[in-house]
Amino acid sequence: MTRSHTTRPPLFPQIIYGTAWKEEATTTLVTQALKCGFRAVDTANQRKHYFEEGVGLGLLDFYENSPIGRKDLFLQTKFTYARGQDHRKPYDERASYTDQVYQSFDSSLKHLKTDYIDSYILHGPFTNSGLVDEDWETWVAMETLYDKGLVKHIGVSNFSVTQLSALCKFSRVKPQFIQNRCFACYGWDREVRAIAKQNSVIYQGFSLLTANVEEMKNSFIAYLVEKYARPLPEIIFNFAHRVGMIPLTGTTNKKHMEEDLRFLQVELTDDEIFQLENIVK
Ligand SMILES: NC(=O)c1ccc[n+]([C@@H]2O[C@H](COP(=O)([O-])OP(=O)(O)OC[C@H]3O[C@@H](n4cnc5c(N)ncnc54)[C@H](OP(=O)(O)O)[C@@H]3O)[C@@H](O)[C@H]2O)c1
Repeated sequence: MTRSHTTRPPLFPQIIYGTAWKEEATTTLVTQALKCGFRAVDTANQRKHYFEEGVGLGLLDFYENSPIGRKDLFLQTKFTYARGQDHRKPYDERASYTDQVYQSFDSSLKHLKTDYIDSYILHGPFTNSGLVDEDWETWVAMETLYDKGLVKHIGVSNFSVTQLSALCKFSRVKPQFIQNRCFACYGWDREVRAIAKQNSVIYQGFSLLTANVEEMKNSFIAYLVEKYARPLPEIIFNFAHRVGMIPLTGTTNKKHMEEDLRFLQVELTDDEIFQLENIVK
């Protein structure tokens, strides 16, 4: 029996549908993903890479023809600093970071047709090394949204070991999630995952397939695909789940959506998990 066969529904989603880079197809793909069975959606108020308003329209289309409503879904979006944006910023760049967060957040609520967000993520740190005043001001603004019940959880993305450790140590409201690009060549972000685990932060892994194109050609993965007669993404997402991650997939294909949602049906052995975790020596 796999860990998924519990009698109670899990507190957090087991897989998240990602909406980056879909532009005009965003609305249709979000509706499609929800119809296929995804119950968690990741986006960002960063028009350069995401069409958050299109996500909201996809949600509305879905609600109209489904008994499933807002409360059954897990919506995650992000605050992105100006340097990660193009000219279409969802806030006045001259405002304080506190106000930038509030303006971006209000705009996200409008885009997503909701009055609360399940998970609000700081898209990336202000600089590559350490946390600076701008990050602390931003985090405090996110804590305020949390205090008001407008966001259920707060978290970060693209944080290093040092940055996540500092945030866990010195913040008042601790991060619930870290969302990182997961490179197999770094033990699937082993060090960040270890700090996250120590601090009860849940790791969300993105680019599990696309950041590891060479590793996906490994003969051990080919062996697992053959042994379980399952598509490679199911094997990788199952592995991610078994080592404690929530995987993200942004597939644009209905058949792949259905496949990716079946990732809990694979029953990799503990030894196979160990070998996958150490696939790059
Ligand atoms: N926080 C950040 O900075 C950040 C950065 C990047 C991404 N993200 C989030 O993570 C999400 C996922 O992005 P990603 O980088 O992991 O990659 P992605 O955009 O989801 O790409 C996944 C690739 O795998 C393919 N794929 C998925 N399932 C498959 C299947 N069953 N069979 C065959 N091919 C399959 C997809 O092709 P098909 O479309 O043909 O299925 C696609 O080429 C994004 O949408 C975004 O929400 C966050």
